[in-house]
Amino acid sequence: MSTEQPAPQRAAVLKGLGTWLPRRAVSNEELSARLDTSDEWIRSRTGIRQRFWAEPGTATSDLAVEAGARALKSAGATGADAVVLATTTPDHPCPATAPAVAARLGLGTVPAFDVSAVCAGFVYATATAAGLITAGIAERVLVIGAETYSSILNPEDRTTSVIFGDGAGAVVLEAGGADEPGALLGFDLGSDGSHPDLITVPAGGSRQRLSDTEPDPADAYFRMQGKPVFTHAVTRMGQSSTALLEKIGWEKESVDRFVGHQANVRILHSLADLLGIDRERAVVNLDRVGNTSAASIPLALGDAVADGRITAGDRVVLSAFGGGLAWGSTALVWPDITTA
Ligand code: COA
Repeated sequence: MSTEQPAPQRAAVLKGLGTWLPRRAVSNEELSARLDTSDEWIRSRTGIRQRFWAEPGTATSDLAVEAGARALKSAGATGADAVVLATTTPDHPCPATAPAVAARLGLGTVPAFDVSAVCAGFVYATATAAGLITAGIAERVLVIGAETYSSILNPEDRTTSVIFGDGAGAVVLEAGGADEPGALLGFDLGSDGSHPDLITVPAGGSRQRLSDTEPDPADAYFRMQGKPVFTHAVTRMGQSSTALLEKIGWEKESVDRFVGHQANVRILHSLADLLGIDRERAVVNLDRVGNTSAASIPLALGDAVADGRITAGDRVVLSAFGGGLAWGSTALVWPDITTA
């Protein structure tokens, strides 16, 4: 009879976290001066009081490089075997943004590619990176969520302009054991393509070409049908995080922090109620940064770690939802790391 312990299952372990925001904060008052809206409406309907917008000339890769460099520094790493970048606002429709980011970070000729899952992008990119690691294809992967939503917002559309912001967040995942703090313990991912028009940029792809004879300039901007999206967001993130908890064997009450996609404080509170956890356990930073889509979860993690809402040993659930529709959740015991 052997007394040897079986080796822990290979897992992707979070080793570093970095974030970056453009310098320019845009207040509700600034938007109210040019749009038919008010600070009161925006705060009471969404919880947002400001967002950050990049200056024209700043692209998604510029934000991604800053966050990626900080995540590598936080992990004490100088290199990575792959870069997975989640974004809805790539520098160009073609090529992907990740190779340029990898090159600018001095990572050489590593595989680098974009993941497109709108606001669920960061969880999808994390799952993709975890797959590369558990399959033995990579030892260390840089995962970035970065957005320059200000580049696709219709300046005349109050329903979207007040909600979305720019920013970037990144994590470093390394091969380790499933029993280590920071190990991603499982994933629940899903999509429902039967509602493609709820969140869309209608033109600029192959369905509605920019070369159409009479293009409507408004079709090149982002659009969202807020009310039905709200309902889908609560339902899908609720189902996804519940399914994940069942999969990994965590009781709902044992969750210390729920880091949901930062779209609307009312969504986050509804989710906390649905999961039966105190609303205080739902991390909120959308008041400061707005909805930053694929950057939302790492930016929320960055703020929560910085102000002590998340500390080493906390049981943390991440859950995101966005256009597609697409959603996903993962969970980890928070590791003892210093963020940058
Ligand atoms: N300022 C003032 N009024 C506004 C406004 C604004 N910025 N935006 C919309 N309104 C108006 C609407 O025109 C509507 O007016 P009407 O009743 O005269 O038609 C009214 O406010 C209510 O609009 P509605 O869209 O029903 O508001 P809402 O309570 O659903 O809030 C959102 C809108 C977008 C904040 C909310 O639906 C939401 O957060 N949706 C989910 C977003 C999300 O989860 N995204 C995740 C994926 S990115």
